[in-house]
Amino acid sequence: MKINLIDLIILIDLKKHQIPRNKTWKLLFGILFRIIRIIRLIRIIIMRVYLDYAATTPVASGVFEAMKPFFSDKFGNPMALYGFGAEARGEIEKARAQIADFFDVLHEEIIFTSGATESNNLAIKGIIKGMGPGSMPGMTSFIPHIVTTGYEHHCLLDSVKSLVKSGEVEATFLKPNREGIVEVEKVREAIKPNTVLVSVMYVNNEIGTINPLKEIGETIKKENLRRKEKAGVAKKEPLPIYFHSDITQGVNYLPFSAKEFNVDLFSLSGHKIYGPKGVGVLGVKKGIKIKKIQDGGEQEFNLRAGTHNVTGIVGLGTAIAQLKVPSKKSKVTEKVRDLRDYFWRKLQEEVKNISLNGSFEKRVANNLNVSFKGVEGESLLMLLDMAGIACSTGSACGSASLEPSHVLLAIGLKHPDAHGSLRFSLGEGNTKKEIDYTVAEIKKAVEKLRKIAGKQD
Ligand SMILES: Cc1ncc(COP(=O)(O)O)c(C=O)c1O
Repeated sequence: MKINLIDLIILIDLKKHQIPRNKTWKLLFGILFRIIRIIRLIRIIIMRVYLDYAATTPVASGVFEAMKPFFSDKFGNPMALYGFGAEARGEIEKARAQIADFFDVLHEEIIFTSGATESNNLAIKGIIKGMGPGSMPGMTSFIPHIVTTGYEHHCLLDSVKSLVKSGEVEATFLKPNREGIVEVEKVREAIKPNTVLVSVMYVNNEIGTINPLKEIGETIKKENLRRKEKAGVAKKEPLPIYFHSDITQGVNYLPFSAKEFNVDLFSLSGHKIYGPKGVGVLGVKKGIKIKKIQDGGEQEFNLRAGTHNVTGIVGLGTAIAQLKVPSKKSKVTEKVRDLRDYFWRKLQEEVKNISLNGSFEKRVANNLNVSFKGVEGESLLMLLDMAGIACSTGSACGSASLEPSHVLLAIGLKHPDAHGSLRFSLGEGNTKKEIDYTVAEIKKAVEKLRKIAGKQD
């Protein structure tokens, strides 16, 4: 058996032993205490465990290398007509091709944005504004209807809510079931004659549950066919229903095919897939009319104004291309899933009164979202942070808020359980040693917090 000397020293709780009264021994013990404290501190500094890969990932080394020349040597503005511009333009088109090939869509169906937030805004607002007044023949007071879910990322929820507030749309926010899954039947039932858009995320960013996109796409396709038949009889143009999905948290680990899933629009962000921050994609099926939501230049087929983030786009293209390396994706998924499962088993063994939020089976490989009974999530997060462990209480953008997660409330958790939850999201860099250390620190922190809470009762 391998004995870790530092662990052994740290485990010895000298305070429990009687400290000798003799002056010299007292001095020696005093020095020893101090050494132990320093060792503990060093260990915390050395031991940094990142378990928040759903918030962001580091840029992969190959991606960084590909990006480097575009910070300095190849700095041209892609809209410029001279050689420097053409060089940058060429790289953007290369990245567009890499991404289009990965998702099996046409090159012109890939629109570069600043991230999934912008992609979601553009998808929702762009579709509605693109319809424009009078776009529905014979319907003068037409108010379009959107079907989405109550546990989407805030950037999508708020895009829909702002259109509702301005009176441009009406919306249905579907409740996921207790397992954190949006049921196909619920989507079908929510579709009304004025429904023009259904938006359901692929993987929930907090609880990692996977929605049945293919089945939802099938339902929408059937509804569109039914509308077509009906309109044909009346010799009118049918009102289409578009299907949008925020696939941000699914790209790393799950297959996605816009064609196979009947998805018309999809959003993603570079920094969730070992690419850079500040760049993303909105996939828009050819022929779908969307209106740009930002005035300015005519970049990106006149759908997204603003100078291209060439460096970011090159990075995103490379990150996607790396996901395509044969079998890499499945190997990484398997490794991360095994580690995540080990983490959950160990946590259940070591810490009492915990529960998993969301389905275990229909869950992305890297996610654990756990409720710790009688514990404040924020306090636990702070103690873990002091031990060098990074995790999250909700989505990264919402983690500064002390409101309970809208996702956990949407799946039926009571406020105290939602408050006592943490999300751990693993990545390619995590090791078994890190998980063992994390479980031990969670155990210590939970015991401490429960003791304090017990004293306060
Ligand atoms: C599902 C989902 N959608 C959208 C976003 C927003 O991405 P970004 O902040 O990169 O724009 C995130 C980020 O956490 C996300 O997880």
